[in-house]
Amino acid sequence: MLKLPGLIDPHVHLREPGAIHKEDWDSGTAAALAGGVTLILAMPNTNPPIFDAETLDLALDAARAKAHCDYAQFLGAGPAVRATHAPPLPVAGLKMYLDSTFGELRLDDMTLWQQHFRTWPRNLPIVAHSESRSMAAVILMAAIYDRPVHIAHISLKEEVLLIKAAKERGIQVTCEVSPHHLFLTKDDIPSISQGYPGRGEVRPRLATREDVEALWANLDVIDCFATDHAPHTLAEKTGANPPPGFPGLETLLPLLLTASDDGRLTVDQIIEKSMINPRKIFNLPEQPETWVEVDEWARYEIRAAEMHSRCGWTPFDGWQVRGRVRRVVLRGQEACLDGKVLAPPGFGQNVCQGG
Ligand code: NCD
Ligand code: ZN
Repeated sequence: MLKLPGLIDPHVHLREPGAIHKEDWDSGTAAALAGGVTLILAMPNTNPPIFDAETLDLALDAARAKAHCDYAQFLGAGPAVRATHAPPLPVAGLKMYLDSTFGELRLDDMTLWQQHFRTWPRNLPIVAHSESRSMAAVILMAAIYDRPVHIAHISLKEEVLLIKAAKERGIQVTCEVSPHHLFLTKDDIPSISQGYPGRGEVRPRLATREDVEALWANLDVIDCFATDHAPHTLAEKTGANPPPGFPGLETLLPLLLTASDDGRLTVDQIIEKSMINPRKIFNLPEQPETWVEVDEWARYEIRAAEMHSRCGWTPFDGWQVRGRVRRVVLRGQEACLDGKVLAPPGFGQNVCQGG
């Protein structure tokens, strides 16, 4: 039996408020615990988006009532810069969408980026969804305003090399990678699609083998693993106008442990990138008496039907993996046992109290 600390996933989409048929604070945090994740940071591209004190309450009220695991909520950077920055809100940080993706929070006007970089409290992180050239621009902005920036879900060789060079220059940049960008390439899209191209849609898009190899070769540049758990139902993924996004909370750990079994990753790297570094980057408190027990020898097949997520599918369906979460203990409470979530709704706590 392998004992790991509770994992932290700094990039999760829960869809509440607004689209709870995809996921809500109940199903999403149950999926987290089943995957060995005891703390999630929730993204703000809900409907309405979370971008001020009033919309924040919508998310936090739902979380307080329903969350099975611990959590914090990001605020989305919108045009209403002052509203977001006025009171000390109990949030994980500010999320800036600088490239097009699911939701309405895209910031095209670069003067807004500047205002956010100037005024967002220095003790709270800024996370940027930025790809390729906009990533270069936002890293430059971090350097100009002399404050840290965390880059969400990197996927390209040019991106990991850019971040490596920026770190070598002393720029305060950190980054995360999602399992689907480590374990899938664009060549996998036909088999994920099963005749429905929308199933293979995700932002950033799946990249080339060369890109994926560059991520693995530069794993030391990558600070965190983050699922970018982005649940959309199978009906939506196979229908007209399929939204981009893959679920990931329940496949993260078995994929990483299988890679560790294959000698591509060490368990220490899993702990570093799924707990130690996210805690540091996002100033998260320790979760006392919290751990995950894993049967590291168990081999099994990933099956969408066994998942807690409401979305009903996974791009890894049918994969043979090694390492099964047996038991999760969260703050002294047995929170999950053999796939059964035991921590009641409302057990989860907001780890960011503001101030
Ligand atoms: C995310 C979503 O569905 O909310 N989709 C995605 O493809 N990653 C949005 C995002 O993280 O950019
Ligand atoms: Zn995301």
